[in-house]
Parts: sequence; structure tokens; C-alpha cells
Amino acid sequence: MNADYLLKDSSQVFSPSLLFYKTLLARNIANLVKRVGDPARLRPHVKTHKTRQIVKMEQAAGITKQKCATIAEAEMLGQCEVPDILLSYPMVGPNCTRFAQLVKKYPASKFSCLEDHALGIQQLSAALTKASVQAEVLLDIDVGQHRTGIAPGAAAQKLYEMIARSPGLKPGGLHVYDGHNHQHPPEERKAAVEKMLGPVLELRDGLTKAGLPVPRMVCGGTPTFPVFASMDLAGVECSPGTCVLNDVNYGTWFQDLNEFTPAALLLTRVISRPTPTRVTFDLGYKAVASDPPAGKRCVLLDVQGEQVLQNEEHLVVETPDAEKYKPGDVAYAMPAHVCPTCALHQFAYVVENGQVVDKWEIASRDRVLTV
Ligand SMILES: Cc1ncc(COP(=O)(O)O)c(C=O)c1O
Repeated sequence: MNADYLLKDSSQVFSPSLLFYKTLLARNIANLVKRVGDPARLRPHVKTHKTRQIVKMEQAAGITKQKCATIAEAEMLGQCEVPDILLSYPMVGPNCTRFAQLVKKYPASKFSCLEDHALGIQQLSAALTKASVQAEVLLDIDVGQHRTGIAPGAAAQKLYEMIARSPGLKPGGLHVYDGHNHQHPPEERKAAVEKMLGPVLELRDGLTKAGLPVPRMVCGGTPTFPVFASMDLAGVECSPGTCVLNDVNYGTWFQDLNEFTPAALLLTRVISRPTPTRVTFDLGYKAVASDPPAGKRCVLLDVQGEQVLQNEEHLVVETPDAEKYKPGDVAYAMPAHVCPTCALHQFAYVVENGQVVDKWEIASRDRVLTV
């Protein structure tokens, strides 16, 4: 195990718990800025960590724009006085009113959001007008993930025109998230981005010719942001999330991004040795995200064997080394998917030089802060 991860004294650290390694985190943020060349071209996604103190570290690195997925994350960013906050989610129903409340409550921040349908545009326009506020709306473009968005083309142009003429709304550009571009070889990922961008740029030209402003294109996640950053695209903003903390999956799949080091681990303890070849840790799927397949939700560092069973609060490992472990022994686990893992924890212990130096609240794991 990398010696940087080892705590000199874990006697007061509860288990299971989340650990953030501040030096590695700072290095990942610096590497992010280095990759894009200019922090003005960055809009990192806060969903990975949901933590005010990491937002502040990014602000100290010159980053003034943030992206988020929930109203609670957007509010946390408002509390941090982030100047430019994109809630990268289509607003519908009563969330339109909550969005209007955010715009009113945090005047130091400029909020924007997404839409991809006429009904959402109407609902948001009504809510913002009622609250006597205005906000920019980015058109969400479906570039192949088929999760949300509208395909680039004539219908997309019509929706953008609708945003431009709706009271309370201003056209804020295009949202171009390609979460399906997870090709492992970097040349394949680059080729996929280049191919996907053609129709998007055509749409942008059409909008500009029609006299509509397209102030920005918010593009990519961790796997593809370096490709967008390397292109000479006006108004491009790169929106990676995961690489700030990084994890087993991204570290394994995207070896071209190996300057990003996993900066979040889980501390777990042996709670039982039920058979001569089994060790059980307090690391169930309420402490580590369970969207990866069972047995592959984390890597237990320096623990040999196979993860054979995981319940809500238990992780059972079958190992010929079982006799080496006794109840209370500490182990460290690297999550396969760090973003939903963070959301399972109320706070993270912050580690620097092998010592716990602070505790940071995972503030926007809640669905509602005040709005
Ligand atoms: C809309 C959007 N933008 C950006 C990101 C960040 O992507 P990544 O986690 O690959 O860095 C995500 C991830 O889910 C996303 O949904």
C-alpha cells in the first residue's frame, strides 16, 4: 500500500469511515488546472465530493465556476459564494420554484440550469417570472448517452429559440455531456469526441447565424475533458467530477489520466473471523457504493482473498491468510466508485502527513439544505 495512506494513529477514527487525503486532493486539483491550462475553462462537478472545503480548495486554485446535479448541491455552492453555478439538470415541477428561490437567496452567485423540452421551459419561465428573477438556461444536448437532452438538429434549434423568447430565461449555451464515452484507449475516446462534436458545432453555427447568443458549451467528464481542453473551441468549459478524488474504476480504465491519484479511502476494521478461512470487515454497502458488481465494490489494500459476501454493514473475505487477522485490526479500502460512496458518509476525516487534521461535512448529501 502507498505509505501516504497509512494513519500513524487510527485509535480515535470510527469505522467504517471516509478519509480524504488533503495533499493528494490538492495535487489532483492542481493537475486538473494544468490539463486545461486556464482555470477559467474549468467547471468541475461537485457531485463527486459534495463538500464545502473542497469547493474552497478549488476556489483557491482560481476556479470560479462549478457544476452540480441537485438543488442541495447548488445551494451549498451558493453558500460558498461561487460566482457561477450550473445546476446541470432539467428543472421541472416544484423544483422550478426552488430554483427561483435559490436565485433570489444567493445574489452573489449566478445560477443557470438545463432544459430539453418545451414543458420544462414553460414551467421554469413561469416560476422565474413569478419570483421576478432571471436565469440562463443551457440546452441539454443528447450526444449519445441517451439519458437526457435533445439530439442536435432543427428541433434543438427551435427549443433554443423558445428559451430565448421565454420571459425570465436567457439562452446560456449548450450542455454537451458524453458520459457514454468511456473507451479505454485514449485514441478511441478522442475519435469518438471528434465525431460527436460535428453536429453540435453545426447547431451552434445555426444558432449564431439566427442571432442567438451561445456563450458557452459545457463539455465532458473525467474521461474526455482533456480532449475538449486540447481543442480550440470558443466558450468551451470542461466539467470533470471524479478525478478530484479518483477511484479504482477510473484509475484502471483511464491510464492516460494517471496523474490523478485516489484521494479518498475507507477505513474499516475486522469485526469477526467466523471460520478459519474467513474475515469479516465492517464495510457493507451502506459504506461503499454498490453500483459496481458485488465483489468489486472496493479494493481492500494489502488484504489477499476474495470478497464473497457483502450485506448492508458486512464485507466477508475468504482468504487463506485469515489467521493473520483479529477483531479490531484496521484495513483501508479504495472505492470502485467514489462519488456515491462519499454520499453515504456524514463526514470525512481529513488526513495530512499521516495524521487526522480535520473533519469535513459531506454537506450536500442531504436532499434539502434550506430551500
Ligand atoms: C452531467 C455530468 N457532467 C459531468 C460529470 C462528471 O463526470 P465524471 O464523473 O466522469 O468526471 C457527470 C458525471 O456523472 C455528469 O453527469
